[in-house]
Amino acid sequence: SESEQESLLEFSIQVAKEAGAVILQGSKSIRQELGGSSGIDSKKNSVDLVTEWDVKVEEIVRNAVKEKYPDFGFIGEESYSKGLRPELTDDPTFCVDPIDGTTNFVHGFPFACISIGVIYQRTPLIGVIFNPFLDQLFSALKGHGAFLNLTTRLPLSPPSPLSSLSSALIGVEWGHDRTKELVDKKANSFSRLAGDPAFGVAGGKMAHSMRSVGSAACNYALVASGGLDLYWEIGCWPWDVCAGIVIAQESGGFASGGPHVNHDGDVTEEILHGRKYIVVRAIADTPGESGREA
Ligand code: IPD
Repeated sequence: SESEQESLLEFSIQVAKEAGAVILQGSKSIRQELGGSSGIDSKKNSVDLVTEWDVKVEEIVRNAVKEKYPDFGFIGEESYSKGLRPELTDDPTFCVDPIDGTTNFVHGFPFACISIGVIYQRTPLIGVIFNPFLDQLFSALKGHGAFLNLTTRLPLSPPSPLSSLSSALIGVEWGHDRTKELVDKKANSFSRLAGDPAFGVAGGKMAHSMRSVGSAACNYALVASGGLDLYWEIGCWPWDVCAGIVIAQESGGFASGGPHVNHDGDVTEEILHGRKYIVVRAIADTPGESGREA
């Protein structure tokens, strides 16, 4: 019912705030332990430390869910990577990234967040993204609009249709997977999006410019706010995008992607098992889809 959905949203917000405080504390403590960014090249060390905090934050959310919503499904980045891969059913299911933007988390670059989504009947229903570094809370319940810090409706200014990509500010990401195949695809897409055809860039569309903030969820929140016109990426996981889909859609945006999320933003079973995709747009035409080059 509507009131159940509202209390589910309130619960998700409360848990996100609790988790956010732990994320802030973790980011500080990691940097102290590593001795600032110079310690970050001891990669193994920093990966272990991140995992430790990821696990800690996911436990906070999982325990809270277990207590209040014991029958709900739970898909979390950390438990998924340890092999806990529940089937997606029609039942309500939490889809959680305890720390999205883990590289930022280690560096103290202030775009890292917790992302809590709730999927119901295979459709993202609730999205909560909390960035504790900037104290920004994005929340949305399907059909009820998207908000910044609970009261400011998104987008922040009324969107007007983009005349072309040349007026668009586009979020893109390198992601964690730096294999040649993926880096080549992304680099080709970036060059086509940014390149000026007048100077010989084949297929150049010359977007107004491009940005990388280092967190998929923050990109969605930026599209929802109106700061970015579009976000394009290959390689996201469901927990990176689930909350963001609701927030972007409820702000008037559009989420599109290949096998994992259909054109209405519904989550399909494959969202759990693959990792291609991502196009979110506010207004412009999507430049690509489904793990393909833009
Ligand atoms: C990643 C970040 C990154 C994006 C990747 C994500 P993580 O999530 O959102 O910006 O490029 O696709 O997997 O590992 O920081 O939770």
